[in-house]
Amino acid sequence: MKFFVDTAEIDAIAELNDLGMVDGVTTNPSLIKKSGRDIIEVTKEICALVDGPVSAEVTATDADEMIAEGRKLVEIAQNIAVKVPLTWDGLKACKALSDDGHMVNVTLCFSANQALLAAKAGATFISPFIGRLDDINIDGMDLIADIRTIYDNYGFDTQILAASIRTVNHVTQSALLGADVMTAPPGVIKSMVNHPLTDKGLDTFLADIKAAGIKIL
Ligand code: E4P
Repeated sequence: MKFFVDTAEIDAIAELNDLGMVDGVTTNPSLIKKSGRDIIEVTKEICALVDGPVSAEVTATDADEMIAEGRKLVEIAQNIAVKVPLTWDGLKACKALSDDGHMVNVTLCFSANQALLAAKAGATFISPFIGRLDDINIDGMDLIADIRTIYDNYGFDTQILAASIRTVNHVTQSALLGADVMTAPPGVIKSMVNHPLTDKGLDTFLADIKAAGIKIL
């Protein structure tokens, strides 16, 4: 499973990237706003840091404007994936930009039918938003499973990018269901290391190291 980090914070991306945990980055207008940075500048810095796809989202809602914005975004770096919303205009922009040879991430996906349309429009990535479905008492994991089945039934090569990941269990479940990629905030990725039995076991080992005076260096 590929790990994308869902942030526009350079330091957080760099820390995870140094550990080989970053296969790509996703941003969105809310994350750009949170960073307080100019979208072009911060996206350029992220692209210089990370080899994999960096999603940068259009701001327009009209297809022609989305296509124009997408063409400007891809000038930032060769690893830009243009992020477009799952609307009819977004699908038109997806088709035009993917026909141009650019990576496209179709975002704000909340149904299997939407995912089917995005695949047919040539999306590189489809982003089902798990956490936002959970927020309204719909199991986001069912959507991942449905999209996986449909894409496999027909051999679509659009990658399922599990998004709006809020918990470490979302990561496990997405991986078990065969999502190609997950994108999560840095804090969620870092908390995947936690296990109380690891902490308890280490405490015991440290006590025994001290008691026995074990030294290696
Ligand atoms: C993904 O590309 C989105 O930026 C992100 O996962 C949305 O997450 P949220 O629902 O927690 O805002």
